[in-house]
Amino acid sequence: MTLRRAAITSVGRFLPEKVLSNQDLEVLVETSNDWIVGRTGIRERRIVEEGTGTSELAAAAAQEALDRRGISADDIDLIIVGTVTPDMMFPSTACLVQDKLGASRAWGFDLSAACCGFVYSLTVGSQFIMSGAHERVLVIGADVMSSIIDYRDRATCVIFGDGAGAVLLEAANGDEGLIGYQHKIEGHGGQYLYMPGGGSQHPASANTVEQKMHYVHQDGRQVFKYAVRRTYETTTSLLAREGFTPDDVSLLIAHQANMRILDATRDRLGLPEEKVVKNIHKFGNTTAATIPLALYDALEDRRLDKGDLILFSSVGAGFTAGASLFRWGGLRSSGE
Ligand code: UT7
Repeated sequence: MTLRRAAITSVGRFLPEKVLSNQDLEVLVETSNDWIVGRTGIRERRIVEEGTGTSELAAAAAQEALDRRGISADDIDLIIVGTVTPDMMFPSTACLVQDKLGASRAWGFDLSAACCGFVYSLTVGSQFIMSGAHERVLVIGADVMSSIIDYRDRATCVIFGDGAGAVLLEAANGDEGLIGYQHKIEGHGGQYLYMPGGGSQHPASANTVEQKMHYVHQDGRQVFKYAVRRTYETTTSLLAREGFTPDDVSLLIAHQANMRILDATRDRLGLPEEKVVKNIHKFGNTTAATIPLALYDALEDRRLDKGDLILFSSVGAGFTAGASLFRWGGLRSSGE
């Protein structure tokens, strides 16, 4: 098998139309626009209509990536969906996406790593390109967080939103693509961010519903501290291992969990404001979708040039932590 690089060659996204603003939340729980903006940086988030499954968002984002690239769903070999809000326990969201797209040749699976779902999926998908096993891999980060949020719990309901982002991976033509990655899981952190109900330990019952076990439970302070520390450690050790310093980074595209986490990371890495992508004010924390959505915005805003070094980074429930370095080679259009 030949070893080659895996490059991101197309992007797509889907965001529900319905906006849930901080003012809307002020009506639901005891909170204020000032508190939410000051503590998180979030001004609004998108929310699906009830009954919309994650696969619908994921398929729409993937379809845009295919359309922009000018290829058909039949050209896809593998579909990986990073999500913690699958439509159902099984079949996987990837199966539902494959069917919606009509990707007749593809196989696929879901990857459960919470907010690291996209970063991990990007690394996993890249392996199949690098090994020469596949030519085209769809990597999707998608979550309908509103399906597992208690809109009476002010500690969580102000943070999360719904959305999906997708990228297409193909073999690099030159030196662009994945340079390296650094991933870590630390299971002791599971107690600080989790959803206990509906799994094999606590199957759905009247009791689990009564106990609110089908909602996100979070100790925000613990997660915040871990996120700031581990994001710095993961990104700096990855950069050092690959022979770079933070100065070499053209753009940090990090998980959008809290504006203060992004600012603390920027400070610690010594990056100027213009090297950090922020769109949390518009979409909140969409879990596995934040990074492809931020990449999409960076491209819309023309913040990436060929040859730029992108640092992707995320920390989430698990705990999970991950970062990857990509040399940007530009999007490919039809025929390239
Ligand atoms: O992507 C998944 C990973 N998750 C994260 O990265 C989340 C990381 N954590 C955070 O983003 C922050 O911890 C939060 C935004 C969740 C909370 O911010 P904080 O600055 O850590 O607040 P806190 O939990 O320490 O609470 C401070 C105060 C408390 O009141 P007292 O005890 O000081 O009287 C809370 O009850 O703020 C209160 N509070 C609120 N007040 C108004 C908590 N939530 C709200 C709210 N509105 N929505």
